[in-house]
Amino acid sequence: MDPVDMGDDLAGVLLSEAQIAARLDELAAQIDRDYAGKAVLVVGVLKGAVMVMADLVRRLHTPVQMDWMAVSSYGSGTKSSGVVRILKDLDTDLTGRHVLIVEDIIDSGLTLSWLLANLRSRGPESVEIATMLRKPGAAKVDVDVRYVGFDIPNEFVVGYGLDYAEKYRNLPFVGTLAPHVYSH
Ligand code: PRP
Repeated sequence: MDPVDMGDDLAGVLLSEAQIAARLDELAAQIDRDYAGKAVLVVGVLKGAVMVMADLVRRLHTPVQMDWMAVSSYGSGTKSSGVVRILKDLDTDLTGRHVLIVEDIIDSGLTLSWLLANLRSRGPESVEIATMLRKPGAAKVDVDVRYVGFDIPNEFVVGYGLDYAEKYRNLPFVGTLAPHVYSH
């Protein structure tokens, strides 16, 4: 998919494929340094994290095992409650493991703050977070995030795993959505 495929739904390209790739190179190098001599269990949070997970782990020299979780807020109206439901749990026992959660975006921070507490209760050696995007302007809770790709403005963004009504996850870049798409 490219910008032309979005027609007038695209307001602008916020992060190009090249910018994303360059930042991933830096994050992967940092992760390799931090986990030298260790093995990491990388946990991707479905569905948005699929792209960053795939691109990040392929840059790592550190041995990784990959697992996935799917979580959902209880109903759209209660997302801000921070109450999260597990739709698909991990297959892996976390006892003694170094866990790295991989996310596409931290918005309010509620999902990650819940997930962090949940995974920490399972006896891992360590739990850290890597997120491609973070919106500081939308934060409702502080989440301690070790690896952040980009801090971005509080706007509707799509692409690189992020959807609007399940569309546009497969854009290779991050774009801002034109207001007419979500304002009716
Ligand atoms: C997105 C994103 C995070 C969460 C962040 O997932 O992948 O999990 O929202 O929002 P928060 O910081 O306000 O909690 P979403 O619920 O849209 O599911 P998806 O990944 O399947 O699109």
